[in-house]
Amino acid sequence: MAKNQPSFTCTACGAVHSKWSGRCDACGAWNTIEEDVGLSAGPAANSLGASRGKGMTLSDLSAREAPPPRTGSGMDELDRVLGGGLVPASAILVGGDPGIGKSTLLLQAAASFAGRGLKIIYVSGEEASAQVRMRATRLGLGGADVKLASETNLRDILTTMEAEKPDLVIIDSIQTMWLDTIGSAPGSVSQVRAAAHELTSFAKRRGVSVILVGHVTKDGQIAGPRVVEHMVDTVLYFEGERGHQFRILRAVKNRFGPADEIGVFEMTGGGLAQVANPSALFLGERGTPSPGSVVFAGIEGTRPVLCELQALVAPSPHSQPRRAVVGWDGARLSMILAVLESRVGIPFAGLDVYLNVAGGMKITEPAADLAVAAALMSAREDAALPADTVVFGEISLSGALRPVGQTENRLKEAEKLGFTAAILPEGGKSGGKSGLRLTRAADLTGFVGDIFGA
Ligand code: TYD
Ligand code: MG
Repeated sequence: MAKNQPSFTCTACGAVHSKWSGRCDACGAWNTIEEDVGLSAGPAANSLGASRGKGMTLSDLSAREAPPPRTGSGMDELDRVLGGGLVPASAILVGGDPGIGKSTLLLQAAASFAGRGLKIIYVSGEEASAQVRMRATRLGLGGADVKLASETNLRDILTTMEAEKPDLVIIDSIQTMWLDTIGSAPGSVSQVRAAAHELTSFAKRRGVSVILVGHVTKDGQIAGPRVVEHMVDTVLYFEGERGHQFRILRAVKNRFGPADEIGVFEMTGGGLAQVANPSALFLGERGTPSPGSVVFAGIEGTRPVLCELQALVAPSPHSQPRRAVVGWDGARLSMILAVLESRVGIPFAGLDVYLNVAGGMKITEPAADLAVAAALMSAREDAALPADTVVFGEISLSGALRPVGQTENRLKEAEKLGFTAAILPEGGKSGGKSGLRLTRAADLTGFVGDIFGA
């Protein structure tokens, strides 16, 4: 592309376009495309010299520059998601809906890291320092050794970082930061990208870790964190349903640890409390066994998590029946319904279908297929599954059941929580010596026949 030709970036998905249009071809969002002014040399760029580009052999590097150890925050849920603690000189993006609790989480994390001897600067572009201090006092962190700054000009922030030499800088949020070398408004794609670039490259050069907070917005008014995801080492999303107090911190990308790891928190009057046993929490709301309710033994990252799936199947008053899903993939639901219909001969035509994952949890594993099918069948036949049974397994389009990974861990967790039986696909690893009664099925027809006698 010629140097001065403008490019356009979708703030929702980060796709780059050569010309502006009202709708992004890549993700289908409307009004999300903005002109991208591009990176110009920022305040710190001139400190880069030619020698920086020199190559080194891997063995040389590992002998001379043994990486400094990670620092744990002492908040186990956070440390696990980070892959075992904070890696020095790393850049982390924490994204999430406005009001979900990002500032609360990071203020608590800042205090915990400070307690472990790290020098921390918490830069708020949204709240005055007095407001941050007020919040900290309310969270019982008033005495924490964290430096607060209320600032949005990146040049000043970099100067402060240079002078103070902290171990960790928290930027809340990246959308409020602006560089005076770029003409567009704070929150635009160009500003967000340039600010993130300056901060992450500064972090790498000076050995400072940075945590960037990014609001996710659907309306495209502010550049979404998507445009900076590739610049950072770790991307964490803080998610949860409004109306639920549970919050899940999920690693969607991590150069220094496993992705898909989750940390579970509960929003209380005194801030975020860690939830060490999420299965017990997600199942805690479960009442007596009822039709449509099934317990799925899932794996989130490296940790087994049990949660309840709820389905409702009802005659539809509409010509086109409703299919609504919360916490799972809608397309995957349609697939399971189609397989039930064409491979097992159970029609869902003319029926509204609702599926909900209890507790505000979001499941992405295909291993939930069989649990979803069980919940749908249970709701449709108005027959409750025994309360002490967990279900997991993947369903293929042929109606065959495929074994899934970590069978043993799933069964162990179920046993630990007092379940006595499991329904799972045939084949795969034996599942070890499990104390559970195991019912194995080779295909969906066999499963439906065994469990529902249909
Ligand atoms: P906040 O951390 O400001 O969200 P974000 O930075 O993601 O925009 O959290 C805001 C919400 O958290 C607010 O609706 C109130 C709630 N909250 C509590 O319930 N308890 C608390 O102790 C705190 C500090 C916030
Ligand atoms: Mg905030």
